[in-house]
Amino acid sequence: MRVIVEKDYDTMSKVAANIMKEEINKNLSIVLGLATGSTPVGMYKELIRLHKEEGLDFSNVTTFNLDEYVGIDEEHPNSYHYFMKDILFDHININLENTFIPNGKSKDLHGYCKQYDKLIKEKGGIDLQILGIGENGHIAFNEPDEELNVGTSIVNLTESTVEANSRFFDSIDEVPKTAITMGIGSIMKAKNIILLASGKNKSKVIKQLLKADKITTKLPASMLLLHPNVTVIVDEEAYNG
Ligand code: GLP
Repeated sequence: MRVIVEKDYDTMSKVAANIMKEEINKNLSIVLGLATGSTPVGMYKELIRLHKEEGLDFSNVTTFNLDEYVGIDEEHPNSYHYFMKDILFDHININLENTFIPNGKSKDLHGYCKQYDKLIKEKGGIDLQILGIGENGHIAFNEPDEELNVGTSIVNLTESTVEANSRFFDSIDEVPKTAITMGIGSIMKAKNIILLASGKNKSKVIKQLLKADKITTKLPASMLLLHPNVTVIVDEEAYNG
């Protein structure tokens, strides 16, 4: 696990965006795995700048998002579909037909999960996966538990995640309690992984992750210790607390 510590959120975001830029320029048909949440927003802003000012080309890029709430409409302002369009896709030259986000409204959710992993495989697998991390160590919506899902699955969100995500909703009651998420195995199949974390509230979990020498389902992010190509990019607050 390579660790990069940057002085603040902006620098962390720019460093991550630059790595993405280099990877996209090396392979214009790259398959990216994308994350939602507040953490990657600065990186997405920088990617938009790189597109507008330096011509970074997304026209052949394919993206797969990690997760989506179950039962929420794509047009709902809190859906991850809406988020991705609003924060990134509407501002770059990506072909929306090449952007994939789990469908939390599918009539056959379990069948859909299998299809999602199959589609990732058909597109050649994820070249570069961006991850955030939950305060409880979740990656995507893989919550700490006795067992973790290998493939894309339907999961119940923990109370702490519902509470953390309630900041985006009018009230906590509106936060969906189930989600569809790429599994740990789907994430681990990515060739390269970048995990981002910023701010004091992530320092405890980052400390746990960086000092871990055992994997445990109680800290889903610890599974990344098994992956050969993970870069953790954090700001000083997340690193030092
Ligand atoms: C959310 C998402 C994760 C995200 C994490 C951290 O619940 N499902 O993909 O990485 O929580 O979010 P944030 O970046 O807002 O702290």
